[in-house]
Amino acid sequence: MSTDGTAPDPRESAAKAPFLLSTWSFGQRANEAAWPALAAGGSAMEAVEAVSVFCEDDPEIDSVGYGGLPDRDGEMSLDGCIMASPQQCGSVCALRRHRHPVTIARLVMEHTPHIMLAGSGADEFADAHGQPVEELLSPRAREAWLKWKAEHPDQARGIRPFDRDRGGQLFAAGSNDEARWKDKHDTIGVLAIDERGKLAGACSTSGMPWKVPGRVGDSPIIGHGLYVDPDGGAAVATGTGELVMAICGSFLAVEMMRGGGMPRDAIMEVLNRIARRDDLASEHQLAIIALRPDGHWASGALRPGFRLAASDAGGHQLLEPEMVLFPES
Ligand code: GLY
Repeated sequence: MSTDGTAPDPRESAAKAPFLLSTWSFGQRANEAAWPALAAGGSAMEAVEAVSVFCEDDPEIDSVGYGGLPDRDGEMSLDGCIMASPQQCGSVCALRRHRHPVTIARLVMEHTPHIMLAGSGADEFADAHGQPVEELLSPRAREAWLKWKAEHPDQARGIRPFDRDRGGQLFAAGSNDEARWKDKHDTIGVLAIDERGKLAGACSTSGMPWKVPGRVGDSPIIGHGLYVDPDGGAAVATGTGELVMAICGSFLAVEMMRGGGMPRDAIMEVLNRIARRDDLASEHQLAIIALRPDGHWASGALRPGFRLAASDAGGHQLLEPEMVLFPES
């Protein structure tokens, strides 16, 4: 249901194109920014890039682009990908000088025979395609890193990430239990169907805060953080990347929908496979959104604290996921 409890739940029937779905409460303001172009006949590819760029530019969002939290050594690295089909996808990881991984991933898709560029090669490719060099570490993120470094925090933490609709702060700065929510990380994941019925998806992240330098999570890996196939559907994941990487989670969800499987069942399969791990920790969170080409869609999470934003001709809604595997956690 919608988080304010008033609007009808759009999942009760299949969504009508155009349609836009994004992870987390900050996805709602990004959807609102991207919606007019999609509603006016823009492509799903343009819409998912626009949502990503909006979040990458927002210094309030502590898990994506500028404003994201750095690695153990205080260095930023950004990952992202974009996909419309197995033949139409691009990805970059470990960008250090450019703020817009999804835009650069789209350039990789459109201008190279490759799918993925990494590290300095990705930054140099971005330079060659006129992408501006920008600061990635915001003053607030640097301050958070200095604090983390000074405190040597213990490893007992709460569920992460956790969405309290605090303007993009998934680690809930200012909450009473700030210590519990520190070190959250996440992704803007977005799926769209345009008025021609074409699907696209994107995801973008600064990765896990305080990560070991060099760590890359699920978000830029096709089939892990994102998968889109016009014959099966689209799925995007957010949360602890290692959980979804280990089972090719977004690919698995799309495969479950191929031939008519319901998005709800696809998501449950992904969550149940993760739940079988015997090293699942109380702070691990994983959420997934799945969308079929016919507009049927669903969302689910391992634990409470995930929200998503849905936009269609009826307006923009902030929603709770319909499934939470461990609601008491
Ligand atoms: N889900 C984003 C990451 O783990 O990097």
